Amino acid sequence: MNESPVLRLDGVHKSYALGTPAELEVLHGIDLTLDRGEFTALIGPSGSGKSTLLNVMGLLDRPTTGEVWIAGAASARLDEAQRTQLRGRTIGFVFQYHYLLPEFTALENVMMPMMAAHGRPDRAMRETAGGLLAEVGLADRAHHKANDLSGGQQQRVAIARALAMSPALVLADEPSGNLDTQSADAVFDLLRKVNEVQKTTFLIVTHDPRLARRCDRIIELVDGRIVNDRPNVREMHQADALDQTPSGYASGNPEGSRAANGVTAFVPSNRTHSSNCAGSTARK
Ligand SMILES: Nc1ncnc2c1ncn2[C@@H]1O[C@H](COP(=O)(O)OP(=O)(O)OP(=O)(O)O)[C@@H](O)[C@H]1O
Ligand SMILES: [Mg+2]
Repeated sequence: MNESPVLRLDGVHKSYALGTPAELEVLHGIDLTLDRGEFTALIGPSGSGKSTLLNVMGLLDRPTTGEVWIAGAASARLDEAQRTQLRGRTIGFVFQYHYLLPEFTALENVMMPMMAAHGRPDRAMRETAGGLLAEVGLADRAHHKANDLSGGQQQRVAIARALAMSPALVLADEPSGNLDTQSADAVFDLLRKVNEVQKTTFLIVTHDPRLARRCDRIIELVDGRIVNDRPNVREMHQADALDQTPSGYASGNPEGSRAANGVTAFVPSNRTHSSNCAGSTARK
């Protein structure tokens, strides 16, 4: 088992339009470690660099200087194909604007990361995708085109897609930003359950202090610098939370059962997860 942090940033700077009159440094030296199973909120004003930071962490963009370690693997010297492969098997994204493929069904959208990794769709992929859609309360929309779903439903499909590969790390950019309070709570409950059952590491950007307080750690970014990074005593103790989960959750019932908040307790198998966390040992 790999004991390296799931993610580590060393001295990450990020500038846009480098070498042009419009050059703008957005991240000014970020050092950060996320360990396995951490459930962390990233907060900060609009324009402070949260999405930029997520893009760099998730290997969607390169830092100008500094190093990004994913599960002990240094990413700077990897070529694009290697970065894509590392990203695909380790990281799930929920984007601020949810980029589903509009002409494909919800089920097909959730299957995309599995098809990218394993090729042709098969029954196991369909079952995993169907289970995830049930988990986010969309079993009855599996065969609807993404375009025909409401904004909130599309966001829930995007969350199911992010979980499809059972990634070690999920980077979520305002995953509940356009949901009503009840749906936002349900989505948060779901992310928390995945975190507790699979020890998935989450970094969740949110503008909602109420949701941030439900995380175990809160990192605050202001003008591209971390100004605060503190553990958070959760409002609801885990034991209390478990008291409220349906029996299917505790017993591992693969069908899941529907909680009062509308999110089922189904959690996908680790079928696609076995190659996660490969990589060399981090220095230090
Ligand atoms: N591709 C880009 N090219 C140039 N500047 C950019 C680019 N993307 C972001 N920026 C700038 O970088 C800064 C940080 O943007 P970023 O999107 O990371 O902020 P944010 O914290 O996610 O904000 P929000 O809460 O509004 O989503 C902003 O000043 C923005 O204008
Ligand atoms: Mg943003």
